Amino acid sequence: MNFISYDFNTASPEIDARVEALLSRMTLAEKVGQLVQANLRWRDDLDDQIRQGRVGSLLSLNGAEQINRFQRLAVEESRLGIPLIIGFDVIHGFRTVFPIPIAEACTWDPNLVSQAARVAAMEACVEGIDWIFAPMVDIARDPRWGRIAEGAGEDVFLGCAMARALVVGFQAADLPGGRRIVACPKHYAAYGAAEAGKDYNTVDISERTLRDTYLPPFKAAFDAGAATVMSAFNEIAGVPASANPFLLKTILRETWGWEGVVLSDFDALGELLHHGFAADHREAALRSFNAGVDMDMMGNAFPYHLANLVREDLVEEAQIDSAVRRVLRLKFALGLFEQPYTDPALAAQVQLTDEHREMALEVAQKSMVLLKNEGNLLPLGTDLRTIALIGPLADDHHNPLGCWHARGRDADVESVLDGLRAVLPEEAVLLHVPGCAIEDTTGGSAGADFDAAVSAALAADVAVLVLGEAEMQSGEAHSRAHLGLPGWQQDLLEAVVATGKPVVVVLMAGRPLVLPWMVEHVPAILMAWHGGIRAGRAIADILLGAVAPSGRLVVSFPRSEGQIPIYYGHKSTGRPADSEGVIQFDRRHRSVYLDEASTPQFPFGYGLSYTTFAYSDLQIEASEVTLDGVVVVSAEVANTGDRAGVETVQCYVRDLVGNVTRPVKELKGFQQLTLAPGERRRVRFEIPVRSLGFHNLELRYVVEPGDFRVWIGPNAAEGLQGEFVVKDS
Ligand code: GLC
Repeated sequence: MNFISYDFNTASPEIDARVEALLSRMTLAEKVGQLVQANLRWRDDLDDQIRQGRVGSLLSLNGAEQINRFQRLAVEESRLGIPLIIGFDVIHGFRTVFPIPIAEACTWDPNLVSQAARVAAMEACVEGIDWIFAPMVDIARDPRWGRIAEGAGEDVFLGCAMARALVVGFQAADLPGGRRIVACPKHYAAYGAAEAGKDYNTVDISERTLRDTYLPPFKAAFDAGAATVMSAFNEIAGVPASANPFLLKTILRETWGWEGVVLSDFDALGELLHHGFAADHREAALRSFNAGVDMDMMGNAFPYHLANLVREDLVEEAQIDSAVRRVLRLKFALGLFEQPYTDPALAAQVQLTDEHREMALEVAQKSMVLLKNEGNLLPLGTDLRTIALIGPLADDHHNPLGCWHARGRDADVESVLDGLRAVLPEEAVLLHVPGCAIEDTTGGSAGADFDAAVSAALAADVAVLVLGEAEMQSGEAHSRAHLGLPGWQQDLLEAVVATGKPVVVVLMAGRPLVLPWMVEHVPAILMAWHGGIRAGRAIADILLGAVAPSGRLVVSFPRSEGQIPIYYGHKSTGRPADSEGVIQFDRRHRSVYLDEASTPQFPFGYGLSYTTFAYSDLQIEASEVTLDGVVVVSAEVANTGDRAGVETVQCYVRDLVGNVTRPVKELKGFQQLTLAPGERRRVRFEIPVRSLGFHNLELRYVVEPGDFRVWIGPNAAEGLQGEFVVKDS
């Protein structure tokens, strides 16, 4: 990393002294005001509320001028002049929009992801934004859930790596104008475990699963310096996360000793009434504050009830003081008292620079995953005469922005048509036919022009179809029960394939899709996700071969919705699908389906290149290691093809026997290699034995001595296998 990052959890006696001095001057009403976050729709007397010190933070404002205006009300027209902290959803870029987070994670390049996050912070801070409501670190194993688009996928180890990378980038210490931004990992916690993949739905998981799977990325984010967290909408085992003392006090404060600010998600306190967890907003304020929420986003509870609850001795003012201290400490650390305003002229100098646009292109190129390439149809090369470019997303300037695209603008997006035009030679002919809409809301095939698409394909050397989801078909509140191609796209695809011409499909989506027909009938498939403002050029570079694909999946692709949830780190069960099973009655009984395979369409970690790699000679330095030791395992990786390529070498481990059951595989390391044709290199992993633990029967983190398996390979479904033993001492 060529920049340093700011750790907002670093203690500062000087700041603490300033906090105490200010706190001692505050009335109870002003203290409660610091615990209220509002947006422009909160109340029509917002200006007065700010002047009276009744608001501590604003979110989702538009531009430096507007933010400066509200800051002036707080700083120059309120009694104590406490500046506001300004929050915004900067999820994958600000004006320079990068690929959606699940795509960024598919780069398996934390340093690059950090760089992109720093660019987003640079572009946001010059507008006066101090608080980025990201990274979204929810582990997600259900592609029906639309918010799988916003995170780093199914795996804990990779999820932690991306959480760290994003916090480090967002909190870069060299932002323009000396400004600072604090990250806000979300949604605490286990939001991605929503039953049936329906957003906001019930979460009912064991404490062990919570501790081993869903909490580690938050701890990684805090260890990287994040000093705020956003509590989630969902309940966990009957207790809503935004009023959950186990999450907000036992884990955050007592176990982790973390002293950051807990911000509730958007009116999550008001939603306690819908949960049937609070009878009214007064009870919602009481239960959420006493559980550990510091700040009420959209303020329907705290502003109206906290002060009275203190007067009724149901909330201790000392607890109010603690929450206010955390907020004030953050505002001092952000430098808001010294520099509450921003220079509106900075935005034009910092946003959407050529350097930022080049980085968006690099991230897009490295995020795309080649899923199939039968007969090496790709790369197409540049000597093609005619390309039929078909599909509703082929010349789309909006949907590559993806969900949560902040200040992204359609005008900044390069479509696939733009990208191909930019890189194809003059004499090449591009026949562009949308063919149908992304999703057909008319109930008929309105807008479908299959004939024109078929004619274009017949007139071309190759047909490239750009298909998939609109950005609003993933993201918040956008879960899908059916994960095939929306609208008439499957019919369009089949019509073009029926021409017998070579077909390439480029998929744009915010989630894994269910594509059995396509996988069987189409020779080349590139998963491009929603690739940001440079998606079109990145796709063109990969299709024509200027860049080789190197993305690797961070979520398993299901063969059908019936398999979901499907993820590689599952438990073995007593009758594993790959076992002989048990003869019961007259048939072998195993944990399988009668009508579907048990393996995914594409496994976690999977992706093809334009070359091939071979793995050999796995070596384990010591077959026995102690609990405080390090397992050293290596293997040779060779580029066995005829062009250079990037391979993401992955290392997995399995704890064969435990006092609780353990996953059949867990990612414990990855390294990226660029190898020239014929080049081979030994890749070495040093895995601290301490990292092989889990929460045992007493829910204590332990590493148990015993037998382990280890793999080094290209994805979760294959690799060279070895064994080692962990000894007590
Ligand atoms: C939304 C989302 C959260 C976002 C917040 C503010 O409902 O759940 O991710 O940061 O509100 O926009």
